[in-house]
Amino acid sequence: MRILSVVGARPQFVKLAPIARAFDGHVEHIVIHTGQHYDELMSDVFFRDLGIPAPDVNLAIGSGRHGAQTGAMLAALEPELERYAPDWVLVYGDTNSTLAAAVAAVKLHLPLAHLEAGLRSFNRRMPEEHNRVLTDHAADLLLAPTEVALEHLEEEGLGSRSVLVGDVMTDVLFRVRDSVRTASTPFDGLEPGGYHVATLHRPDNTDRPERLAAIVDQLSGLTRPVVLLAHPRLRAAADAAGIALDRGSIVVHDPLAYPDLVTAVMNSAGVVTDSGGLQKEAFLLRIPCTTVRSETEWVETVDLGWNVLVDSDLSQLRSAVERPRPEDTSAAPYGDGHAAERVLEALSR
Ligand code: UD1
Repeated sequence: MRILSVVGARPQFVKLAPIARAFDGHVEHIVIHTGQHYDELMSDVFFRDLGIPAPDVNLAIGSGRHGAQTGAMLAALEPELERYAPDWVLVYGDTNSTLAAAVAAVKLHLPLAHLEAGLRSFNRRMPEEHNRVLTDHAADLLLAPTEVALEHLEEEGLGSRSVLVGDVMTDVLFRVRDSVRTASTPFDGLEPGGYHVATLHRPDNTDRPERLAAIVDQLSGLTRPVVLLAHPRLRAAADAAGIALDRGSIVVHDPLAYPDLVTAVMNSAGVVTDSGGLQKEAFLLRIPCTTVRSETEWVETVDLGWNVLVDSDLSQLRSAVERPRPEDTSAAPYGDGHAAERVLEALSR
């Protein structure tokens, strides 16, 4: 069996790692990188650190507006999919790379499988929401990470094509956590438990200057230092709006390689983010998370008390971040760390 994976953005490289491992020696696995993310720290370090074989093809599409970027990927993917004629095209998550590959595959009548199917924010302002809904409805096999995601698919009439496999990010997180367990922090001068970790990259937060300024204000007033791992979009938006990131408690830092990120989070007092993956990683490491969004796809983190959403009243952000630690839980809504094996089983079946 030949499976062709299409990835392009940072969280997809993380999800590719356990899949590539599970596929190794069982199927022929072709990997196409669209080039949506291209900086060393946004792309190459993940392949290196997570032991993912180099992509067979890199389309080097780069950044652009949604239409131009997605369209360029679609045009470039078509001949590659024809050339490899895989038994399955496997797409990951909710990025423009995912949507482009989904459209390219169905137009060529190639079977399409969607990993991380069924997530919904129900917020149509998010590009990711368009991407995931369209991809789910195009796909032949929907690989759901959680019970809640499976329910969404059933409600949309997609139940007969769906299977619950668990979350592959749990697979990779547990493996990396166990390999870095003895480390302390990747930051000079910061003690375990003595700092927060923050990331911000969603256009709703970065591209509205007043909102960005309010978030930065709250972070700068935290009692403990907060290491802000700055995505290129955040730096560019802050520069353009004349907002200084490096002030008060904020320590601006480049994005981290995955093992360093895991080390940083597991030794932190808490996480502040608008990333989907990081909310879940914090929960799996039992680190309190505060999410700067009005909703989350990972509702279990909120229901279990480990994630608090702060959106319209940003003056609450600081106190939310500094709230007492929640009650412990043994709940495992994101699977047992063996999701990638179930993905292989489902594709083989
Ligand atoms: C994309 C995904 C988002 C995912 C995120 C992870 C879509 C619609 N969004 O958002 O779901 O959570 O990746 O990071 O696909 N840039 C660089 N170097 C890079 C990559 C990007 O400088 O290697 C800059 C460019 O100015 C670019 C901007 O960041 O325009 C945004 O990048 P883009 O890939 O379009 O979206 P993300 O915000 O990263």
